[in-house]
Amino acid sequence: MKINANYLKLNESYLFSTIAKKVAAYTQAHPDKKVLRMGIGDVTQPLAPAVVAAMRKAAGEMGEKETFRGYGPEQGYPFLKEAIRGYYASRGISLEEDEIFVSDGAKSDVGNILDIFDTDNTVLVPDPVYPVYVDTNVMAGRRIVFADATAENGFLPMPDEKTDADIVYICSPNNPTGAAYSSAQLAEWVAYARKKGAVILYDAAYEAFVSEKGLARSIFEVEGAKECAVEFCSLSKTAGFTGTRCGYTVVPRALVRGGASLNKLWLRRQTTKFNGVSYVVQRGAEAVFTAEGMAQVQKNLEVYRRNAAVLSGCLDSLGIHYTGGKNSPYIWMKCPGFSDSWKFFDYLLEKANVVGTPGSGFGKNGEGFFRLTAFASEEATKEAAERLRLLFSK
Ligand code: MLT
Repeated sequence: MKINANYLKLNESYLFSTIAKKVAAYTQAHPDKKVLRMGIGDVTQPLAPAVVAAMRKAAGEMGEKETFRGYGPEQGYPFLKEAIRGYYASRGISLEEDEIFVSDGAKSDVGNILDIFDTDNTVLVPDPVYPVYVDTNVMAGRRIVFADATAENGFLPMPDEKTDADIVYICSPNNPTGAAYSSAQLAEWVAYARKKGAVILYDAAYEAFVSEKGLARSIFEVEGAKECAVEFCSLSKTAGFTGTRCGYTVVPRALVRGGASLNKLWLRRQTTKFNGVSYVVQRGAEAVFTAEGMAQVQKNLEVYRRNAAVLSGCLDSLGIHYTGGKNSPYIWMKCPGFSDSWKFFDYLLEKANVVGTPGSGFGKNGEGFFRLTAFASEEATKEAAERLRLLFSK
C-alpha cells in the first residue's frame, strides 16, 4: 500500500485551519480578551427572511408523505437551475439549464473539477491567491507555474504568450487582494486560453461585490469564453450560505478538449461521486434569486460594504497602503513596520486582539501584506478599526 506522497509536499495544515488553531490557543491562554475575528471570510449576517421561509416550507414538505423527496438529481433540481439561469440572463448571459451544476459550494467544485483533467497538465495560478487552487494541484502532483500579482500590475496579472499553461485559474474580484478584472482584460485571458487550447477555471465567488461599472462579474461576459472557461460561483458570500452550503458551476456545452465535452465529463463525475445538495437547501437557494430574496440579500451586502468603508477609512487616516474594499469584501493592506506577515499576525493578535490573514498564506507575493475581511458585524468592525487606530497612530 502506498499513500499519495503528494500530500507530504503540502504545508502541514490548511491556511485557515492554522489560523483557527493559533486563535484558539490565544483565547485559551487569555480568556478575558475579546478577540475580533477578521481572518477567514466567514459571513455574520443571518440568512435572508425569504430564504428561511423557503427552507421552513421545504422542511415541512419533507415531513409529509405526499411531498417527501428522496435522492434528487445530482446536478441540482430544475427549479434552482432555472433560477440561476434567470440570474445570468438578467446580466445578459444566456445559459442552458444543463450547463449549470448545483453543488455544496465553490471550494469543493474548484478542487473536484481536477478529476476530469490529466495530471500531466501545467497549471497557471496567480500569486497571491486563494490557497485551494495550489493545494489541490499539489495533491494531484501537477506542475504549477505562477503569474505574479504585484502592486506594479495592480494585482491583476495579464497573460504572457511565453508562458505555456493548460489550466488557468482566475479569481475576480480576487481573494485576497480585492482587485477585479474588467471585461476587456478578461478578453485577453480568453484570447490566450483559446490560442493555447487551455481551460480557464474562473472563480466568481465574489461577483456580487462588484460595484464599479466596467468590471466583470462573469467570464461569460466575454465573447468566446464558453469555448474555454468553466465558472464557479457560490451563495456563501452573496447570501450568507457559508454554513448552509450551496454553490454552482457552469460548464458550457461548447467547451470541448481532446474531442470530449467537458460538460459531459463533469456530469459523469458528479453523478458518480456526488448525490446533490439537499432539497431544503436548494429551495432556500432558489429564494435568493427571487425579487424579494435579492433585495434582502443586497441589504446584507450593504452591511459588508459599509464595513469595508470603515476599515478603508481607518487605513486612510493612518496612511497605511491597501487595496480592495471597493469591489470586494477584502482589504489587502501592507503590514505597517513588518516584512513578515505571520509576525504581523502575532503582533496584531497580541496587541489589538484582532485576527486577520497573513498575506504569505496566499503565496510568496503576499509576504509583507495582510488581509482583513469586511464580514464581521458592524460593531466588531468599528471596534477593530478603533483598535488599529490606537495601535498605529503615531
Ligand atoms: C477565505 O477566507 O478566503 C474564504 O472564506 C475561504 C473560502 O471561501 O473557502
